[in-house]
Amino acid sequence: MKIKKLIPSFISEVKGFLDEEEGMRLFELASEACALGPCLEIGSFCGKSTVYLGIACKRQGRTLFTIDHHRGSEEQQPGQTYFDSDLLDSRTGLIDSFPCFRDTIQKAGLEEVVVPMITKSHVAARDWATPLGLVFIDGGHSYETVMADYQCWHPHLLPGGFLVFHDIFLDPSKGGQAPYEVYKQVLASGLFEALPMTNTLGVLRRHLPMVVKKQACRRHRSEHISC
Ligand SMILES: C[S@@+](CC[C@H](N)C(=O)[O-])C[C@H]1O[C@@H](n2cnc3c(N)ncnc32)[C@H](O)[C@@H]1O
Repeated sequence: MKIKKLIPSFISEVKGFLDEEEGMRLFELASEACALGPCLEIGSFCGKSTVYLGIACKRQGRTLFTIDHHRGSEEQQPGQTYFDSDLLDSRTGLIDSFPCFRDTIQKAGLEEVVVPMITKSHVAARDWATPLGLVFIDGGHSYETVMADYQCWHPHLLPGGFLVFHDIFLDPSKGGQAPYEVYKQVLASGLFEALPMTNTLGVLRRHLPMVVKKQACRRHRSEHISC
């Protein structure tokens, strides 16, 4: 069956920062990851990426955990480039994307698949203990925040699981470089292999333990240390 048919047509009207090809790739990755464990998303906003991941999880009988404080990132605050006045809560004067997110999840029929955590990523990670098949990082876009998301969540990723970054711009004139800087550092750790990118979606797969051991042995050999 064509993937496109599985995604509700209203997705094009959901506010968000993901293009259709990236969404389809997320769907495919989550479908595969569900054989390993549940999926987790950092940065849901109004639920666009959540729908692609969530529909895949629903088909496999898995859960999608989502994390977002729903107060918007720096660039979404009043006066900033991505500010959207529709999302301003007039009562508090703060951004609140949760009503929009909730509406999307309900319309997509994902209320029994998606488990939202309305908090900061590092708070959700504090007592987390569930191994994951996929982690999608699309929260704050500063170097410190992306790195903190990686550090908080990669230890929970199962061997063979996917670590996916949004907004990887190889060309600095196209967008901010912080996610790409973290992506490169993660790749250099030797814990992951890079899979083909889809537009700005950077996809890494956690090596199986044997591969990591072999790489360490190779490094040791070149340094004349027995392994
Ligand atoms: C770029 S938007 C996510 C876009 C979404 N994935 C989509 O498909 O449209 C980033 C979101 O991350 C959230 N966010 C930023 N920093 C965060 C943090 N440290 N913890 C949790 N959520 C965060 C913001 O509230 C915002 O809704």
